[in-house]
Order: sequence, then C-alpha cells, then structure tokens
Amino acid sequence: MRTLFRKILVPIDGSDAALRAANYAKGVAEKFDSAVTLLHIIEHPGYLLTDTKDLPLNLIEDMDKNGEQVIAEALAIFADFAGRISTKLEYGHAGKKITELSKENGYSLIVMGRRGLSGVKQLLMGSVSNYVLHYSQCPTLIIKGEKQ
Ligand SMILES: Nc1ncnc2c1ncn2[C@@H]1O[C@H](COP(=O)(O)OP(=O)(O)OP(=O)(O)O)[C@@H](O)[C@H]1O
Ligand SMILES: [Mg+2]
Repeated sequence: MRTLFRKILVPIDGSDAALRAANYAKGVAEKFDSAVTLLHIIEHPGYLLTDTKDLPLNLIEDMDKNGEQVIAEALAIFADFAGRISTKLEYGHAGKKITELSKENGYSLIVMGRRGLSGVKQLLMGSVSNYVLHYSQCPTLIIKGEKQ
C-alpha cells in the first residue's frame, strides 16, 4: 500500500489554488512515503517560435524569474522533505507538458488545483486542469474547495 503513490507530480502556477494542492499533495506523500516533483511550465510565446530572438529578451527573463519564484514559494512547503523533493521548470503548453512528463517519467499521481491564476468566474475548471484531467493516463487529483 505504501508504494501506491511512489511519485507525485504537482504542477504549480503561483496561484493559491496550486499552493493548496501542494499542501494536499504533501499530506498524501507523508502517508505513502512518496517522492514529490514540483513542476512549473513557462508558457511564453517563444516556445511556439523557432527563433526566440524574435521575442524581447526582457519578457523572457521576467517569465523565467517569475517561474523560479513560483517554484521557490512552493518548495518552502516541503522544507522537511529533503531527499524526496525535486523541482522542474519547463517551457511549452502547460497541459501538454504536464501530461507528457507524467507519462514519460512514470508518475503515479498528479495533484493540482481546479483553478489557477486567471480564474474566470464562469468556468468550473481552468483550461490546464481540464486538459490534464482529460488526457493524463495516471490517477489525477483535482483539489476543489477554493474560494470562488
Ligand atoms: N503554467 C503552469 N505550470 C504548471 N501548472 C499549472 C500551470 N498553469 C496551471 N497549472 C495548474 O493547473 C491548475 C489549474 O489552473 P488553470 O490554469 O487550469 O486555471 P485558471 O488559471 O483559473 O484558468 P485558465 O488559465 O484556463 O484561464 C493550477 O492550480 C495548477 O495546479
Ligand atoms: Mg491558468
């Protein structure tokens, strides 16, 4: 039973919803002795271009810096997880990257927020959580219950 969730992937975007999901994932990881990876995808338009020189350099730098902050903030939750916490910063389409990585690297569980940073009130779920829930091939836990 303890090996049920050996590796947990926690996609984070800097939102409160994602931090709540990270805290939830921590509880699961403590129970199941899991290793946790915090993953942030930088979605700057450069990943669509063949030549990122077409993008203003300061935009790329700002997004990279923000990505590092997003990771650092969530990493603080796992301060006592030495040896079984890792982080990943990737570029691309968030939903696709999360789904691909979870498959390629054999994750046993994804834990993520229902909503994220943009939080369009009319929608029940954000586009990233919606995408991952549809296309992931491993158990996927969407943490609900955030303030509307
Ligand atoms: N760039 C990202 N990198 C990693 N995880 C992400 C990223 N964006 C969103 N997530 C994950 O997906 C969850 C839901 O966020 P999502 O982006 O789907 O909602 P939203 O921002 O409210 O809506 P939308 O972005 O579709 O307008 C977040 O709580 C987080 O766990
Ligand atoms: Mg979003």
